[in-house]
Amino acid sequence: MTSKAAPFFDYWFAPRAQCELMALLRAIEAHAAPDQRDFFTLAFSAIIITKSGGVSMARDLAHTRPHRVMDKRPRDAVNHFRRRVTQNLLSLGELDARRPRRPAPVDVLRGDARALPLADGFVDLIVTSPPYAANAIDYMRAHKFSLAWLGQPVGELAALRGQYVGGERLREAALTPAQRGPLPPAVQDVVARLRAVDARKARVLHKYYSEMGAVLCEMYRALRPGGVAVLVVGTSTMRGMDVETPRCLAEIAQASAGFELVDVAARALDRNRRMMPARADGRGAGIERRMHQEHVIGLCRPC
Ligand SMILES: C[S@@+](CC[C@H](N)C(=O)[O-])C[C@H]1O[C@@H](n2cnc3c(N)ncnc32)[C@H](O)[C@@H]1O
Repeated sequence: MTSKAAPFFDYWFAPRAQCELMALLRAIEAHAAPDQRDFFTLAFSAIIITKSGGVSMARDLAHTRPHRVMDKRPRDAVNHFRRRVTQNLLSLGELDARRPRRPAPVDVLRGDARALPLADGFVDLIVTSPPYAANAIDYMRAHKFSLAWLGQPVGELAALRGQYVGGERLREAALTPAQRGPLPPAVQDVVARLRAVDARKARVLHKYYSEMGAVLCEMYRALRPGGVAVLVVGTSTMRGMDVETPRCLAEIAQASAGFELVDVAARALDRNRRMMPARADGRGAGIERRMHQEHVIGLCRPC
């Protein structure tokens, strides 16, 4: 454990939860067969990152706005883990019942969406949900709770956050040419409208759209001609302005990456099923207001 890790664990996890989580990790290490380890590790992570903050002292973890709650009674980690494993096994059983007799082998690869570890034209179909514009959701605020337990040094989390697409951090000198690159005119117009209100936020938005340009070009490269990409995209407002993420991403996909646009469709979000509850009346501040809808963008790499 590094010097930064102990204060982190002590702040967010009660002593009993720390013991239970450590015991669970040791048990996974000692008893899970190598091909089962990821299954159990996922269940382990899922009892930490939950809507209610799970076994930590955090509230609103899945909302990515964690606050420590001193009078919270954290859930019993071992029982919670047992229930989660059972639930995941049942879900896997359901998948098993539906899959073809000779299923294709599955590989899980890890990488940056701007540099996929895949050969050109290797992919038939991409289904993805890219990050919200300009840190509408700060994913690392929730991810760090699991990452720290899974061995990621706490002192390196900030650097890792810097690699996320859509981060707010702006050090002009550190921006790569791709993050400052030109945008299609229709997207530049949106950035310019924001610049009139807030120049710094406009630079953050420019960086987000440039980074998503790199992601879309990479998707195009990895798809075979005739291959299809489906993006589920949230809307975002910055300084009260809708930054038109679905329309801008569709524009970048066509103008910068070379995709054909099939369609952009709106989809209402069921406020009772979403992780982040939104107000029924559509009023309310910031993130609540803009999260009643998401969009699905269909793209095709021309033959
Ligand atoms: C809208 S969420 C989608 C979450 C996903 N559907 C899931 O259920 O886990 C966007 C995700 O993109 C990830 N992300 C951010 N930057 C990335 C990058 N450069 N490469 C790959 N993923 C990235 C974020 O960490 C976040 O988990």
